[in-house]
Amino acid sequence: MATRYRIGYFVGSLSSTSINRLLAKALVRLAPPALQMEEIAIKDLPLYSPDYDADYPPVARAFKQAIAECDGVLFVSPEYNRSIPGGLKNAIDWASRPWGQNAFSRKPSGVIGTSPGAIGTAVAQQSLRSVLCFCNSPLMNTVEAYIQFKPGLITADGEVTDEGTEKFLRNYMDELHLFVQRVLTVLPREA
Ligand code: FNR
Repeated sequence: MATRYRIGYFVGSLSSTSINRLLAKALVRLAPPALQMEEIAIKDLPLYSPDYDADYPPVARAFKQAIAECDGVLFVSPEYNRSIPGGLKNAIDWASRPWGQNAFSRKPSGVIGTSPGAIGTAVAQQSLRSVLCFCNSPLMNTVEAYIQFKPGLITADGEVTDEGTEKFLRNYMDELHLFVQRVLTVLPREA
């Protein structure tokens, strides 16, 4: 049987009407059967402080454990003020600490996002890429995916209404699968 990979995904928006959550739903639908998609929620994490390093609260331990159990991670995020939302950065900071226990180290990742604006979160993604680089996460360089959101592009159930966009997103998930497979072939997960 073909290997299945667990992919934890983060939705960078806390909005109840998030278009990035719609995009995440679409990606779950379009993922190849070899990818098992699971959301890793960021909304319950308190603001990170190094004061927690000696004794992480249960919510942060569970958060890090969820990442540890995945073969790869996917960031589906809006752009806020030409960067990533503070809530997502806070979650990454939690995952990266205490020093020496960075949950993203050697964990393959992909980034994607949508915005009503024409550049479709491109600047936020560049910012996120440099953070993930520092966190030692092997990052899928291409396909890049800057999705301009138009009303109705993705239904509440995550169905993509535009054929070209659906094809593009399906290919993105196929490429993510191949990338995770390649990375784990040379960098197997530690037991
Ligand atoms: C935005 N928005 C935005 N859009 C963009 O393309 N570039 C940007 O820098 C920003 N900055 C920004 C800051 C803040 C604080 C907010 C609330 C919004 C608009 C943003 O793309 C839009 O609200 C999306 O709907 C956000 O994605 P979610 O939350 O719907 O997934």
